[in-house]
Amino acid sequence: MVRIKKESDDRILYGLVMSRFSKLTETSTSLEQKIEDIVYQKDAWTNTPPSILAKLPRRLHQQQDHPISILRNLIENHFQQFKAISPASAIVTTHMNFDELGFPADHPGRSLTDSYYLNQTHMLRTHTSAHEVETFRAGNDKWLLSADVYRRDEIDASHYPVFHQMEGARVWTRDQLQELKDLNAKMAEELAACPLVIEDISMTSESNPYQPQHDPEMAKEIAQNLKHSLNSMIFQLFGRLKAKSTDEEPLKVRWIEAFFPFTTPSYEVEVFWNGEWLEILGCGVVMQKTLDNAGAPQKLGWAFGLGLERIAMILFSIPDIRLFWSEDSRFLRQFQEGKINTFKPYSKYPPCYKDLSFWLPEEKNPKEAHGAKAAGGGMTSIKPFHENDFCEIVRDVAGDLIESVTPIDEFTNKKTGRNSKCYRLNYRSMDR
Ligand code: DAH
Repeated sequence: MVRIKKESDDRILYGLVMSRFSKLTETSTSLEQKIEDIVYQKDAWTNTPPSILAKLPRRLHQQQDHPISILRNLIENHFQQFKAISPASAIVTTHMNFDELGFPADHPGRSLTDSYYLNQTHMLRTHTSAHEVETFRAGNDKWLLSADVYRRDEIDASHYPVFHQMEGARVWTRDQLQELKDLNAKMAEELAACPLVIEDISMTSESNPYQPQHDPEMAKEIAQNLKHSLNSMIFQLFGRLKAKSTDEEPLKVRWIEAFFPFTTPSYEVEVFWNGEWLEILGCGVVMQKTLDNAGAPQKLGWAFGLGLERIAMILFSIPDIRLFWSEDSRFLRQFQEGKINTFKPYSKYPPCYKDLSFWLPEEKNPKEAHGAKAAGGGMTSIKPFHENDFCEIVRDVAGDLIESVTPIDEFTNKKTGRNSKCYRLNYRSMDR
């Protein structure tokens, strides 16, 4: 077991962590909470801390001269004639976030350890796809929707419980096949003239099929249009930067087969950057059920969802995702609408780590597992340990000073059978 270093400091932190840990295991006592002027009844699902709710009004994707907003604008300008949308609230029903999109009842994303719930029926959206059905229902055929999304996760330089996504979609009616073919021919020609290497190892196979109700010829053209549209967007975003770099290689993009409950065939797209493949988006041919649900059974098309931070970190060379939340002018004044500047670090503060070890709560009845099932039915008084719960507490105590949380050791007392874990908590201020 790794030894705790500065005992007095760490005891304080340990005390804080353990008192919050026991709070996490209690069912909440106050019955309701008011958020954005709406009252939500609390229940066994309520798990969103005030520190997360405090992020709702920030709307970085709409803050002028902020890198997230600059990137949103660049993409919106690329997709001419697509309607730009930004929903007013991050609170959605679980029906919109999961059910309507065909997520199975036991999907891990639904669990309390992965998502933020206000109660059993309302949550903070975990992805912009939560708005697909309503956006199609409103009659939009070509649209881009940007928003903040929320997920409980680990802590490191690229994970933050709030981040931003952009969803894009385009649909046609069945009689537009020829129009689509002509468009694809034109786009293929334009792309052929770009220094871009496209590796397409995706396939339409039994595990990634076209939909039975679609004419395979039309579905193929839609998938092709999706690929052309995204390849050209990626070239627009990364190509210029690549041309400026000393590296002589052309930009490389890779298409991989994927699975999402709301698309088939489905793909993931990766960009080769600084020697590694980086996944930047998921996409596919929209499941017909989604369009049927939206009252548009005569339409078919594609959709994608991309992570704005992921791309912005590369384009602006921003090394830590926490920086996007900085209100320090030394960060904010570096960026300007329409421009991709390279971020210049202004804090050279060293990291400072503390190792924290603790016994895990004893699981009296491990069968009544943590997560959706336990929340829906009776809660056990002590939940099994989940790393995301621990990270939540650390964020709550340390705020944005925490840079990473890494498990470094674990231990089981052979006599008592109790388990303990040790984490390295790495602190570093971005600003001071
Ligand atoms: N919502 C997915 C996610 O957050 C990304 C995604 C995949 C969006 C496929 C789409 C899509 O629109 O068609 O991981």
